[in-house]
Amino acid sequence: MNFDINNLLRDNIRKLVPYSSARDEFKGEASVFLDANENSLGSPLTKWYNRYPDPLQWKIKEKLSAIKGIPPQHIFLGNGSDECIDILYRAFCNPGKDNTIICPPTYGMYEVSAHINDVEIRKARLLDDFQLDLVHLENLVDENTKIIWLCSPNNPTGNSLRREDVEMVLNNFPGLVVIDEAYINFSRYRSFLNELTVYPNLVILQTLSKAWGLAGLRLGMAFASESIIDVYNKVKPPYNIGQATQELVLKALDEVGQVNDMIKLIVDMRAKLEAELGSLPIVQHIYPSDANFLLVKVNDARGIYNYLLGKGIVVRDRSKVELCEGCLRITVGTEKENNDLIKNLRAIL
Ligand SMILES: Cc1ncc(COP(=O)(O)O)c(C=O)c1O
Repeated sequence: MNFDINNLLRDNIRKLVPYSSARDEFKGEASVFLDANENSLGSPLTKWYNRYPDPLQWKIKEKLSAIKGIPPQHIFLGNGSDECIDILYRAFCNPGKDNTIICPPTYGMYEVSAHINDVEIRKARLLDDFQLDLVHLENLVDENTKIIWLCSPNNPTGNSLRREDVEMVLNNFPGLVVIDEAYINFSRYRSFLNELTVYPNLVILQTLSKAWGLAGLRLGMAFASESIIDVYNKVKPPYNIGQATQELVLKALDEVGQVNDMIKLIVDMRAKLEAELGSLPIVQHIYPSDANFLLVKVNDARGIYNYLLGKGIVVRDRSKVELCEGCLRITVGTEKENNDLIKNLRAIL
């Protein structure tokens, strides 16, 4: 497998002279900042929010580096994983010419973001057991295929992809292979982070939106080789992570213990919810989950979805999604929320 990032990049990005912000150019100690056209008087808030934040968020990256065991220069931070997804299209895929492969049913933004960027989407549907169809995948690849998206654990199916299959793709595809590990903290299988040094074409996405409980702050992470991270940094808007998010994330990253406790509780509650749902006559099948949700096949998915809505409980109707026919996707809630859900479902005769 011959991976050369320069062959993969769009011409305009290879030649791009990136924006250089005031805070990029100044390094060192100073007490008077007249370089960035900020409001020097202050802000209506008590904090010094009148100043632009660190464009490369080094403090966060250093803390993440200690937690993940990955050097800071191999980390990119985005405004949610969604920004990490979009930037890859903009940097690597020529609109109207290049293509990308997804393995549905999977997370919707790989496709939406491709459409936004006018990049052709090719689909290698998962097999009936929700594993990769490697033969189909290989047949879809041509010289204009730039990115293959793998999601493990996968949304909405909840399963992890077989490691050997993922390795097969990594070893044979000369473009970028993105493994979206948004739900990895709930999985019994380990992350691919340790394999970053083995595969120059690997990009791993993670997020603080799930296990870390910080969906509102919008912080997505991409882990990759330094050359891929350099591309991310060239293309991103200069100050893509706001000061408030940076401060709150720095505080949250000190609480690994609390987050691990939540993960354990969610995994325990997932098992309990699965057992209770399994005892209901309306439930036909529950797919094994490595995530914080369950994909559940029921009698009359739309009817049950609407019934639950009437009770003030909203789940995700996936019954129109290929391979998920008849299924609802249910996030593990609090103990009380899960009990309410079961109580209401039990009342259906
Ligand atoms: C697989 C997957 N990736 C990424 C995301 C988006 O994450 P973020 O909140 O970091 O944009 C989601 C959100 O549901 C997801 O399911």
